[in-house]
Order: sequence, then structure tokens, then C-alpha cells
Amino acid sequence: MADKMELAEIIKEKKGVNEVVEEVRGLINSLLGFRFMDKSFIDFLEKGGYFTDPASTQYHSSFKGGLAYHSYLVYKILKRKESIYRFGLGEDSIIITSLFHDLCKMGTYGGERRWRKDSEGKWEPYCVVAYKNEPTLGHGEKSVILLQQFMVLKEVEMYMIRWHMGWSESRENWGLFQNSLKKFPEIVALITADIEAAFIYEPIKDNEISLNEDG
Ligand SMILES: [Fe+2]
Ligand SMILES: [Fe+2]
Repeated sequence: MADKMELAEIIKEKKGVNEVVEEVRGLINSLLGFRFMDKSFIDFLEKGGYFTDPASTQYHSSFKGGLAYHSYLVYKILKRKESIYRFGLGEDSIIITSLFHDLCKMGTYGGERRWRKDSEGKWEPYCVVAYKNEPTLGHGEKSVILLQQFMVLKEVEMYMIRWHMGWSESRENWGLFQNSLKKFPEIVALITADIEAAFIYEPIKDNEISLNEDG
């Protein structure tokens, strides 16, 4: 219940994006010297745009800081699921799988200037979130590969992140996906936390926070 209340508070924007991003930094820093050993991982996130990039072009958290913001919502929801289902996921695993399931998106989106006519027929510029770099190396796969450069993932973390897109994986992967679900049902908790974050808890309308062209 407390978590539900806290999510509701975020939705009402009592917690702004900047405040959430700072909390995300705190959660990541709590793993320094424990799950990753030096600050090169934090530098990688800072330089790559993890704390400033949007999470998508238009589907959810498509604003500056959206990737960290979306990941934080997933963290809160996944934490609640752990308290219900008692998988035995430690706080470190909850942080890693939620905050970095979409690490593959870092550096993918940016602001792009477009033009449209205003009510008087004059051209005016506006900004949308667009692809800056085309996706490569897969989705969950890329997140796992990037993370493994900086820390040794536990098996359950690897499986959760790899399969967090659930049934939107291409059909030829469904066999592997099903086998993985039997091995680690925790995967379902991350899949559903991700969807719930994007479609139930997503609080911010596109026009309330804009993204500058420089990101
Ligand atoms: Fe994803
Ligand atoms: Fe996600």
C-alpha cells in the first residue's frame, strides 16, 4: 500500500523528473563497490545519456530524463511485486534489472526540429523525439551485453533483462522464451512491471515537459 501511495505521489508530479533522476543516481551509487567496482560505469552512464535521454519516441516517457524516470517507475513496481511473490530477489537485483532493463536505449533518441503551420498559416518550428541512432544488437540482449562490461550479472538478472520484452519477441524466439520462463518466473514480474510503468503509471503528458533539440 505504501508503494502504491508513493507511485500515486509521483503521478501527481509531487516528484518532478529531476528529483526522480537524483533518486536513480542514489540507487546506482548504492551498488558502487558491491555490484560494480569503480566509477567507470557511472561515467559510462553519464556520457551515454542515461540520465537525460527519453525512453521512447512517443510511447512512454518521451521527454528529457525519461529513460531514468521510466526505469524508476519499473523499480518501484518490481519492488512491490517482490514483496507480494517473494521470489527472493535482493535489493541489488531489483535495482539492476529495473534501472537497466532498457540500457540498450541509451543514446538512441534525441530531439529533432520539425516544422508546422500555426493557426495563421505561418511556419513554426517544434520539437519531437526521434531516433538519433538506429537500434543494434537487439533489445534485452544489448542491455545484458552492455552491463556485463561493468559487472558480473547473476543468472536471474541476465534472464530477466534479456526477456523483458515478453511476447513481443519475434516468434522464432518463443521457444527459448518459454524455457526461460520455466527457469525464472521472475521474468514475468519484470515484463509486467515494465508494461504497468508505461501504460498505467506513466504520468507525464508529452506537452508538459519538452525536450530540447540538443537533447
Ligand atoms: Fe525494453
Ligand atoms: Fe522499459
